[in-house]
Amino acid sequence: MCGIVGYIGKRNAQSILVEGLKKLEYRGYDSAGIAMFTTDGLQVRKAKGRLAVLESNLETAPLEGTVGIGHTRWATHGKPSDVNSHPHTDGSMKFSVVHNGIIENYLELKEELIAQGHRFVSETDTEVISHLISREYDGDIVKAVQRAIRHMRGAYALGVLTEYEPDRLVAVRNASPLIIGIGDGEHYIGSDIPAILEHTRDVFILNDGEMAVLTKDAVELMTIEGNFISREMIYVDWDVARAEKAGFDHFMLKEIHEQPKAYRDTMRGRIDEEGRSVILPELKMTANDIRAIRNVHIVACGTAYHAGLIGKTVLENCARLPVEVDVASEYRYRSPLITPETLVIVVSQSGETADTLAALREAKRCGARVLAITNVVGSSVAREADDVLITWAGPEIAVASTKAYTSQLIAFYLFGLYCAQTLGTQDAAWIAEVLAALQSLPEQVENMLEQAETVRAYAEEIAQHEHLFFIGRGVDYAVVMEGSLKLKEISYIHSEAYAAGELKHGTLALIEDGIPVIALATQSALLEKTVSNIKEVKARGAVVLGISDTGHVAALGKAVDHVLAIPATHPLLTPALSVVPLQLLAYYASLARGNDVDKPRNLAKSVTVE
Ligand code: F6R
Repeated sequence: MCGIVGYIGKRNAQSILVEGLKKLEYRGYDSAGIAMFTTDGLQVRKAKGRLAVLESNLETAPLEGTVGIGHTRWATHGKPSDVNSHPHTDGSMKFSVVHNGIIENYLELKEELIAQGHRFVSETDTEVISHLISREYDGDIVKAVQRAIRHMRGAYALGVLTEYEPDRLVAVRNASPLIIGIGDGEHYIGSDIPAILEHTRDVFILNDGEMAVLTKDAVELMTIEGNFISREMIYVDWDVARAEKAGFDHFMLKEIHEQPKAYRDTMRGRIDEEGRSVILPELKMTANDIRAIRNVHIVACGTAYHAGLIGKTVLENCARLPVEVDVASEYRYRSPLITPETLVIVVSQSGETADTLAALREAKRCGARVLAITNVVGSSVAREADDVLITWAGPEIAVASTKAYTSQLIAFYLFGLYCAQTLGTQDAAWIAEVLAALQSLPEQVENMLEQAETVRAYAEEIAQHEHLFFIGRGVDYAVVMEGSLKLKEISYIHSEAYAAGELKHGTLALIEDGIPVIALATQSALLEKTVSNIKEVKARGAVVLGISDTGHVAALGKAVDHVLAIPATHPLLTPALSVVPLQLLAYYASLARGNDVDKPRNLAKSVTVE
């Protein structure tokens, strides 16, 4: 994920910026750069690749100055490259910008600016911001930034410099974090605390819709409308390791808590303003291409495969197309019936999983159209697929996937609804109803995360066991498969996920006194059946945790030993909520067992061997 650092003061900014960027490396990036005021005016150095590449450029051509901004980029608009790296400048090299986030209407703005004579060199949304600010400038950088952002829609944290006012650094926050560090005769900006922690622990945290104007001697805080505000300074007493995790004990917990943002970012710019239809401008496939699809194959590994199982239900419901889901390592070897009318959807967080890539190539060899759902712009899967839907979860650092999985679900919902509106397989009222529910999910997840302590207590109990079972029907079955995988990989507790009705065909023999069973039952139509299955295991001594939504939890509560309620939503969307307590359960069980939560034994984050 992109990182920002900025400095204004009395020391040479170059090393402060580079060292600050090094502290942000843990977030993942593909290029880096800095801009500084020097005696030769505003100068930029930037390079694709690791920070070492930028450092070596700076060794050859160092910069001298006391004001600057720096950035680590994780590609969003445009591939990783020198020219797409930040900072970006306007054509006159008088303005420079670093940006985290996404400008939704950048194409519109870019066309307008091109028509007004602006020339662009990169594929990024950020370059539009530097041109906009330059257009709006009439002698006051603060006012120019305020006017420019009135034209922008989306999420942004910005650091802005202009050569015309070399004693000012402007910072803006809207839906992308930014903090201001306070020193003695020097000030800093940072997208995260680690970027500046070496220099100061006194910070102001900007809220959305706020900005800061920094000089070496003062910091002014104001709303983006220009009304001055006062804010209490916060003293950060975290160590660097905790600061990297934004105060969470582990990356996994941080990433679980980042899910509301990942949902919002994955939906951003993809739903029309009235909330009635899905817009996916990034897809090259036309309405006719969608009409030509006769069947869909979803292919992925591990957690991404589990997202694919939900994707099947979503596409079958929305688009009324037959969908098969395959584990990528099996797909090629079963001679799948792929035709040019098959849409193959590969799902991969990293975009580099060897089996998924091999399946993609096999699908293309057979003439299918391939759509990739991936979290990494410029990854192998993204480059080789015909169409790409990026999940904007940001880099995932914990080995156990959480926010990438749920963002994949959001991508499936958006694509499913897009097919429904293209094919006319669902009416407009149904689509609008699902879209409304979809947009409520981030807030619902936020509310659910407040219940983490309840899950923790239960997790500490199951951490004492060596075996347990998860059961569910329909999409709940697919979700418990993910819950079971999560628990296995980080707590090392053996668990199995079963279709609730299937237990009695053999596995029931393993149920004995005291064995924990986690039953997910969010679907009204299947509730009674699942309750019957719960009774079967309870009669054999199982201790059952039932999870359902607020509408059904009372009925379920009568049949189980413990109960957990999740918020109610559209039946198709429940996986995006119900998986969250299962992620927390795995996390706290792993913690209770003293395991290395973020780096479980025997596992790697990206599996690039078949
Ligand atoms: C489990 C997990 C793995 C990955 C799988 C595919 O938490 O992360 O099961 O989902 O290795 O990886 P990607 O999505 O990168 O293709």
